[in-house]
This record gives sequence, structure tokens and C-alpha cells, in this order.
Amino acid sequence: MSEGVRAEVQRSDWDQWWRTAVIYQVYPRSFSDSNNDGLGDVKGIIKRLDYLKKLGVEAIWMSPHYPSPQADAGYDVADYFNVNPEYGTLEEFDELIAEAHARGIKLIIDVVPNHSSDQMDLFQEALAAGPNSPERDMYMFRYSENGTPNNWGSMFGGPAWSEVEPLTGKEEDRGWWYLHLFAPEQPDFNWENPAVHEFFKSYFRFWLDRGIDGFRVDVAHGLVKAEGLPDDDIGPDRWAGGQQADQVESPFWDQPGVHEIYREWRKVLDEYGRDRMLVAEAWLTPEREARYVREDEMSQLFNFTYLKANWNADRVRDAINLPIEANGVVGAPVTWVMSNHDVVRATTRYGYEPEVATDRGIGFDDPQPDRELGLRRAKAMAVFTAGLPGSMYVWQGEELGLPEVTDLPDESRQDPTWLRTGNKIRGRDGCRVPIPWEAKAPNFGFGTGAPWLPQPEYWAEFAADVQEDDPSSTLNLYRKLLNTRAELGTASGSVEWLDAGDERVLLIKNGDVRLVLNMSNKPVEIAEVSEVVVSSCALEVQGGSVEVPANCGAWLK
Ligand code: GLC
Repeated sequence: MSEGVRAEVQRSDWDQWWRTAVIYQVYPRSFSDSNNDGLGDVKGIIKRLDYLKKLGVEAIWMSPHYPSPQADAGYDVADYFNVNPEYGTLEEFDELIAEAHARGIKLIIDVVPNHSSDQMDLFQEALAAGPNSPERDMYMFRYSENGTPNNWGSMFGGPAWSEVEPLTGKEEDRGWWYLHLFAPEQPDFNWENPAVHEFFKSYFRFWLDRGIDGFRVDVAHGLVKAEGLPDDDIGPDRWAGGQQADQVESPFWDQPGVHEIYREWRKVLDEYGRDRMLVAEAWLTPEREARYVREDEMSQLFNFTYLKANWNADRVRDAINLPIEANGVVGAPVTWVMSNHDVVRATTRYGYEPEVATDRGIGFDDPQPDRELGLRRAKAMAVFTAGLPGSMYVWQGEELGLPEVTDLPDESRQDPTWLRTGNKIRGRDGCRVPIPWEAKAPNFGFGTGAPWLPQPEYWAEFAADVQEDDPSSTLNLYRKLLNTRAELGTASGSVEWLDAGDERVLLIKNGDVRLVLNMSNKPVEIAEVSEVVVSSCALEVQGGSVEVPANCGAWLK
């Protein structure tokens, strides 16, 4: 397809900053450790705000910062109204909001509404109160004498149900189970219960009052379960094929009732203003995803089709066209996402053939990626991506070109998937290793305490301070890219496909800029060029045209 769609981001409400913003994901555990306990913290983030400002970041999305036993790196929330003491205090958090705002940076936090921690008071009260009590009705308790109430499997391996009796030791709990789509330490809330709705409304007001600009909604497509909890087609072992089973057709994903919840939340946010945003994590198809960003629901949704496209031109083209078409119908902008804390780092994914599935994680005994090629491609992809209209997410360390740590010692792994699959699926730790800030400092300047996941020695070459002084570094490329993006206003532009003469060369006109990504294995000549605005490899205009080598991305005028 050479002449694709021409779609425009709705222009009516450009004052809504999130439509075009560069949003940088901070994983608090792994970002910057100010008190040297091996875990990142709030003060560590404050210390790095100037770095983020210089990078061109307009908003920060923080993965969960709440008190948590950390059974799933904070996605098991024990108190929705506080800060994990390992990360700091509520006062320090307020300081973070103020310091970010003082630099013109917005702050988005992670709301985890599908489940809480099993240590949360609501779940503990439910256990104590006994069967059929209003307290138990906050969660998904079911009675079943012969095995689990249905065949659902946990995302992290094993059944999605656990028995109650071993937790309470009470006779009356024999035959009772509770649902957890994720780890047993993450019991699912019962969204049929109005009290759950009220609880989350008060949660939103609490953080909005403190000045929070938006919320990333964890597992947004999972809150409502099909009536009667029917069996699914996959069964209790979602990793049976070595790969996570499809998430689309299911009695617990994307049930129509979820949309009522988001309409309710939108109304709460509207009490504070239309600029307060919600972004959905929902791994569906572009068409189904678009329903989450209707005018009266959420603002944005992660374009995971783009993330999953890997280094495949047809898939990248679809990942641009399909969401633009689907979201265009409801007037929502598109987001561009190359990676996050749940997937193998982009630099590494692009260093494999595009067909290679990496969702099991990568270990020392797996085929290793071509690191140099992966980095070249990740830079090319970043250049191309930043020129697309809409909002762009950057996962911490992406701007340093960090690769996945593929040789983590197995004994250091903390992802619940590793444990729950009986050490079959390594999971996501390899992308969560703490950031290298200074090549020569202990633990590369993350903090002096041993980091919660060990950093590989070769990461010195990726440290931010080394890249700072190197004009050709990935960091300086990202800075130029994001700052040029802001200057030229390309994020408010449009996509018009041009023909580059090769299906594997993507060429897009956005305003007076042409974006090119050469995904083929030979150079391509682009004519009528007067200027190379930004590029991932060295390019020269000669006689009004430019030869763009394989695995290179550029903005041309
Ligand atoms: C989301 C998070 C992931 C977490 C899961 C359960 O997918 O991104 O990290 O494990 O939800 O909360």
C-alpha cells in the first residue's frame, strides 16, 4: 500500500496538552535512588527533573508509588492514599508535584482498579468478615465444592483462583475461593458493587486535589467480568504454548460494562477540568480500543499495535493507519509507544527477526539479539515515531538506547511470572534494571546501595554522563528530536502517505516535513530535499536528494 489514509488529529481542542505531549514513563523502583537503599525513590525523581526537562519531556507517568508488599512491583496496592515508605512520604510526593509543575512538566500516576494487594485493609476485612458478608462483596469470592469455580488462568501462570480457608483457617471458608487474574496476592475487586465505585471516586478526588494531572489506568479492559463467570477457551494455563494466550476474546476482557465505569470517572475528572486525563492500558484491537477513548470516557490509550509491530514495515504501517482510522471516528488522538515496563526493551526487540516472540522474556540460554543492529533500528524508529501526530510515550532508558538485560542471574528475578510458571517463563525483569547515570560511580550513579536488580558491567557505555558529552549519542539524538518536535508542532499535524518506491520504506508527509524510515536492507534515494532536519544516521543532501541507508530514520524538508 503506497497511498494510505490521510487522517487528521481533531483540531478543536488542542489546548488539551495530552493530545500531543511527550510522556516519559518513570518506574520509581528503578529510576534514581537518593537514600542508597537499592530502590529508587521520590527524591531521586526530583533530582532528575532537570534532566527530563532538558530532554524535552512534557509529562511524567509514574508506575505505582503506593504502599505495597511488592508482590508485583507495586501493582499490588495496599493503600491507595499514600506513598510507599521505601519511596518517600506524601510530603515529598507533594514536593515532586510542585517541582514538576514549576518546570512545566505534568504528572500522571498509575491507578490500579482491577485488583488490590491481599494486604489491603478492604481484603483483610473481607477475609475476617466471613462468607456472604458485605465486606466480601468488595471482591470476587465464589463457592465451589469441587475445584476452582471456573477454568480461568492467571496471567502470571497457574489458576486465577485461590482457596480462602488456608488464609483464614476457618471451617466456614471450606469450598470458598477468590479470583485473581494476576498473582494470588492481587485479589480482583467486584465492580458490580457500588461501594467499589465510591471507593475509587474518593481515590481520584484525593489525588486530583493534590494536583495530579492524569491517571494511567492499569488493565482497563479487565474490570468487568461476564455474567455467571463462564469458562474461557484457554483454560488455566495461559502460558501453555510458551507464549501468553490471546487476550481479546474472553469472558474477562473488554466486557461492555467497563465503559460505564469510565464515563463515571470522566465526570469526576471533569469536576477538575478537561485537561485532567485518563490513559488506558487495554491490549485489544484498534477498533475495540477506540471505544475506550470516546468523548465521554478516557483521553488516550496506549497504541500497543505499534509496540508489537517490531521491525516489520507492513505491521508498522497498519499500526499507524488502523488506530488513526479507528480513533478518528471518535475524535481521539493516537499515541505512539515503542516500549514499557512489561515488554522486552525496543533496542533488543529490533535486534531480532520481527517474527521472534519475546513475551516470555529473554535469558542467557536464549538466542541473543544483534545489539548493534537493534540500537541502530531503535534510533531510526524513534526518529520516525517522534514525527507522527499525536502523543509519544518514552520508557525510561529508551533515550539512552538501553538494551534488555538478557543475562540477569535467574536467582535475582522478581517477576511473579518466573515463580508462578515454575521457572519456565522468565518475564519482565530484564527491562526493569535500574538506570545508569554515571559511568564511573558505584552502581553507575543509581545509588550506592546494591540495586534491587543487578546492572550489567557493559552498561557503563550507556551511562547518561558519557552520552551527555557525545554529540552523536542516543541521548543527544532524543534531545534534538523531542525539542524539534515541539518547535515544529509536528505532533498536531497529519499523516499523508507517499510512495518511496519500496514497500519496506515508510514515507510520510506531515505538514512541510517528510518522515522516512528505511526498513529495507538497501539504501533509498529521496528526491527534492533541501534540508535534513534530524536523522538517526549521518545524511547529506547532494544535488537536491538524499540517500537514506537501511535501518535509518529521518525528517526531511
Ligand atoms: C499491567 C501492568 C503490569 C502488571 C499488571 C497487573 O499490565 O502494566 O506491570 O503486572 O497490570 O497489575
